[in-house]
Amino acid sequence: AKLDALSAHDVLKLNDLGGYTVPTRGLYPFQWNWDAAITALGWLAAGDEARAWREVERLLEGQWDNGMVPHIVFHGDAETYFPGPEVWGVKHSPSTSAISQPPVLASVMKLLFEEGRDRRLAEEKLAATLPGVIRYHLWFYRDRDPEHTGRVCSYHPWESGMDNSPQWDGPLAGVPPVDAEYVRRDTGLVDPSERPHKYEYDRYIYLVKFFQQNEHDAEVLYRDCPYRVEDISLISILHRGTRDLIALCEEDAAGLGLVNTNGEALFSLKQSLARTEEGVQALWSDELGCFLSRDARANVLLEHVTTAGILPLFAGVASGAQAQRMGGLLEEWLEQAPFGVASTHPASTRFEPKRYWRGPSWLHINWMLAIGCEEYGMSREADQIKQASQKCIEAAGYYEYFNSVTGEGCGGRDFSWTAAMDLYWLN
Ligand code: DGY
Repeated sequence: AKLDALSAHDVLKLNDLGGYTVPTRGLYPFQWNWDAAITALGWLAAGDEARAWREVERLLEGQWDNGMVPHIVFHGDAETYFPGPEVWGVKHSPSTSAISQPPVLASVMKLLFEEGRDRRLAEEKLAATLPGVIRYHLWFYRDRDPEHTGRVCSYHPWESGMDNSPQWDGPLAGVPPVDAEYVRRDTGLVDPSERPHKYEYDRYIYLVKFFQQNEHDAEVLYRDCPYRVEDISLISILHRGTRDLIALCEEDAAGLGLVNTNGEALFSLKQSLARTEEGVQALWSDELGCFLSRDARANVLLEHVTTAGILPLFAGVASGAQAQRMGGLLEEWLEQAPFGVASTHPASTRFEPKRYWRGPSWLHINWMLAIGCEEYGMSREADQIKQASQKCIEAAGYYEYFNSVTGEGCGGRDFSWTAAMDLYWLN
């Protein structure tokens, strides 16, 4: 990292607003769901276990009665972000957005629990937070897969966390633009060439208004939302998280009796796991050698090779033969964009190495991919991914994401999840 740069631990401290960590000041001044989970690993690695669990607890303050854990919890006021709480129009205290995000939280909690040195703290915090996270996963399966396809769906590109991935170009074209004026804040804070276009924002905001107009009614949204996508990344992360939740309850390592109190819920989660394992096979592309997301409204596979389509390795739902294909693909991918793993395959006509999710590499995704490779016995690929990730930090420091061809830092700087991944994974 650069000489004048903050240490990874200092980045977390800089972004700590009191029990929750903002991804970066200015651009993202609230608590984000998957950022919070990844950042908790950073607090753990920095030796502050209590702070790591606090991050989880504060995120769960945003949980809705139906179980949904929102993608943003607006703990405080800030003028630097659009769309803020007034645009979402959600009645909850604290104020929140109305969609979720890939639930990596459960898998993170398993790591916090297993790796925490203070056993009493780990047991107490797990017992306090696990029931909420079980309700969260049940919500996904109930509200987002009412027909039991084994493939939960999402209603907004923001819900995937991979906002402007080429995967969503097709489904987003079916969403009308919002017919109101608005002022973006992001493009005043970072280089607009590293952010989504106005075309996409017009549709992002239409959807936000659509949710509000329909009072967040689960049935209505499932039926009428103009954007309904089976996101292979979200499905994979949810699947692994569910497995981890079940393991935490069943191992009962803490002697907390979590199985007894959640018997029915666990039964239901196990059924969902089995469904997904079967359901995702419909998303495999033998031609492209990876999994794909699917537009559930238009009933078409979204034929783009992206890191989302490799995340079934993290879920453990790929067959051995599928894993081998993806391993080979990853090696070629890293050759073409050495500061990878490029979020969109570099050979894609839609590849843009510095535009958000159309090509940059993101270290929390790399971490999940490396875990997946390791678990499928592909240590060489896992090492290559780790080295590529280390090179990004060496080249640029703790940026939000990195130009996958040049290693240049992009988006927000002094970024929590990149610092957390350095502390927890790369150091
Ligand atoms: C943003 O505002 O760019 C976020 O990705 C939305 O969550």
